[in-house]
Amino acid sequence: MSNSDFTPRDNFGSRFGIIAAAAGSAVGLGNIWKFPYVAGQNGGGAFLIIYLLFIIAIGLPVMLSEFSIGRRAQRNAIGSFKKLAPGSPWYLVGVMGVVAAFLILSFYSAVAGWTLEYIFKSLTNTFAGKDELELNAMFGSFISGTWRPLFWQMIFMILTAWIVMAGIKKGIEKYTKVLMPLLVVMIVMLCVRSLTLPGSGEGMAFLFKPDFRGLSADAVLGALGQAFFSLSLGMGTLITYGSYIGRNYNLSQTVVQVSAADTIIAIMAGIAIFPAVFAFGIDPAEGPGLVFITLPNIFQQIPGGYFFALVFFILLAVAALTSSISVLEVVVAWFVEELRLTRRKATVLAAVMISVLGVFCTLSFGVMSDVTIFGMVFFDLMDFTASNLLLPLGGLLIVLFVGWYLGADRSRHEISNQGKLRLGYFPVFMFLVKFIAPFAIALVFIYGLGLLRL
Ligand code: PFF
Repeated sequence: MSNSDFTPRDNFGSRFGIIAAAAGSAVGLGNIWKFPYVAGQNGGGAFLIIYLLFIIAIGLPVMLSEFSIGRRAQRNAIGSFKKLAPGSPWYLVGVMGVVAAFLILSFYSAVAGWTLEYIFKSLTNTFAGKDELELNAMFGSFISGTWRPLFWQMIFMILTAWIVMAGIKKGIEKYTKVLMPLLVVMIVMLCVRSLTLPGSGEGMAFLFKPDFRGLSADAVLGALGQAFFSLSLGMGTLITYGSYIGRNYNLSQTVVQVSAADTIIAIMAGIAIFPAVFAFGIDPAEGPGLVFITLPNIFQQIPGGYFFALVFFILLAVAALTSSISVLEVVVAWFVEELRLTRRKATVLAAVMISVLGVFCTLSFGVMSDVTIFGMVFFDLMDFTASNLLLPLGGLLIVLFVGWYLGADRSRHEISNQGKLRLGYFPVFMFLVKFIAPFAIALVFIYGLGLLRL
């Protein structure tokens, strides 16, 4: 038996703490930066419908699977599989998760750094009087620079590490409990502002009226990747968080609440953005520059724009921070439990290693922009490998693990809190994890990689 079996594990202290931390992980740049532009590029409402279907049929069962694996094992992402399936190669799913955590945080921290720069730019009223072209040039010259984006990226990594180092209750839970309500207040304010602009109705129609002509096969894979990324699934983040959830909390309820919060915030981000975009007659398919170019352009033309720009970029940074701590925690928990490092050392080591990888991501918009691997710059390679390959593959293996390896009895025991909760929906969950989710993930995955043409 290992040492860690005797040391009490840090745990979340309250129900609200669990929701704040898990929703904090889920709600991030994926919701506010990525979702609106990916939806914008893929037909708006139609993309939203596919996305919602994936959340319900795949997202919910994968999330419940992750929580139950973690809580049952009381271990990090790799250790959980080693404990529940000793002597088998299942632990490789956890290894993939840790690798994904490295890749994701390397590019995530780059974009998170941009949000800090844009808070600074909002504060100093830099957008005022600039037209779309000038704002475009401003964004381009900032991200293609070297020291400035690196500086902000490092500040962001330090903030992330600082919270993680403080532990679960005194770090992650303490901060997410304050930051998540703040995030909700900010996004509500932005939605109200956007909806009260003249001509905003068209943006709502774009977001909610399905037009399946804009939907390609790529968009369907994109929706799956986006669902995984947005719910923080497939890489053991929620296995790790699940291991900090006490035995008396209701896991399925938490899953529904966290997924609902994540989806509602993504839709609210769409409501904060598209009505404003349409009110100004701008093309919604602007791509990654949507929030860094289009929005500043709009902000500087609307009443209260200075204030709303500031709120928007603080919102982005807060959302990014509560997510990045959960990604770093995957690596730190593993370092602490399997490599026996102190939490302090583990956090510093993980943050430094990820930052090194992060430098390449940031520089891939500047001095390394012509270095491509498989036709992608480093940033895109990290994003694609993690979001479109590792996360869906990880999610597939996780549901197979719960459906076929752990099986119905042990899963029911865990999810029902040792039989204390009545689970009327349990057969549906089992059916989803055994058949529907694996099949759907595999199909979309294979199709998306171009190995199958329908
Ligand atoms: N869910 C986060 C977002 O939507 O921005 C990103 C993320 C966090 C992905 C944690 C994966 C993860 F494990």
